[in-house]
Amino acid sequence: MRILLTGAAGFIGSHVAEALEEAGHEVVGLDVRAGDDVRNVAVVDQLLPGVDAVVHQAAKVGLGVDVADLPDYASANVYGTAVLLAAMARHDVRRLVLASSMVVYGEGAYNCARHGRVRPGARTAADLAEGLFEPRCPGCAAPLTPAPIGEDAPADPRNAYATTKLAQEHLAANWARETGGTAVALRYHNVYGPGMPRDTPYSGVAAIFRSALEAGRAPQVFEDGGQRRDFVHVRDVAQANLVALDSGMGGTLVAYNIASGEPHTVGEMAQALAAERGGPEPVVTGAYRLGDVRHIVAAPDRAAVELGFQARIGFAEGMKEFAAASLGDIHQGEATSA
Ligand code: UD1
Repeated sequence: MRILLTGAAGFIGSHVAEALEEAGHEVVGLDVRAGDDVRNVAVVDQLLPGVDAVVHQAAKVGLGVDVADLPDYASANVYGTAVLLAAMARHDVRRLVLASSMVVYGEGAYNCARHGRVRPGARTAADLAEGLFEPRCPGCAAPLTPAPIGEDAPADPRNAYATTKLAQEHLAANWARETGGTAVALRYHNVYGPGMPRDTPYSGVAAIFRSALEAGRAPQVFEDGGQRRDFVHVRDVAQANLVALDSGMGGTLVAYNIASGEPHTVGEMAQALAAERGGPEPVVTGAYRLGDVRHIVAAPDRAAVELGFQARIGFAEGMKEFAAASLGDIHQGEATSA
């Protein structure tokens, strides 16, 4: 297929480009680093003729610093996607793979012994200050057991980035309904691997720890280090994009968790990277960020059954490679992460 890949020069996008080309596809890259912006109608109109599918990775990523960032997030992620979808309709391009994110869920899924499956709200500053990091049951305040989150969990976007990722999904669903097109949203969990952008206010924790170690500083592990994530290798994410091109259903959007299926704590990740690099040892600080969720781990089953996607690079192997790999430079406004 001839594929328009947005964010082609970014962290994830460059790995996706490689996977697509290896599979024999022809990749037409679009990236702000190359001077092309997905919001530019003329650029998109010029690139789309003859294209069979669009793989949309371009986005402004990370948590954002404060509300001053809102217009940029909305413009790059929401308006950019809207421009792209309208152009796809004009050029009769009927297949879309969208980089989405597990952040659309907000806090992960939990079970309460008394109330069954519950969705706790944001943790209070008072609890966090006391070192009470685990969310409590909204019904009875009892401690909860975390559970893998499935794609049908209600969305609960808690920051600008999450809100714009969910908006992208909604716009893509709209486009699919109105054009009969096929949209597949890949909800990336915590992506890491070679070329991950180094430490910035927008970086994910793996890049922050890796940058600290490279500078000879100890990784600062927040809370008690017991917060769980699913760290998925960027080459696995690239493969997920490849297989997603052959799936989906006309007229609708289908969303998939893209994860390793092997959750680990943030503390374990810090330990693994530090051990591979020969120190310094991580420090568990007890500090916290109000916007952070405690645990978010994926149910990878739907992607396994429907996409035939299964991550191949395990935690130990992936972290070993990442500890030694080189990092990239971040460029906000394009695909560098999800
Ligand atoms: C991250 C991304 C999010 C992306 C998602 C899935 C950021 C800021 N967040 O969400 O955009 O959609 O992965 O790919 O890019 N922590 C430390 N020490 C630090 C920094 C963070 O212990 O120096 C802890 C945090 O408290 C948190 C965990 O690491 O518990 C994960 O943090 P982070 O990677 O920033 O955010 P996610 O919520 O996982």
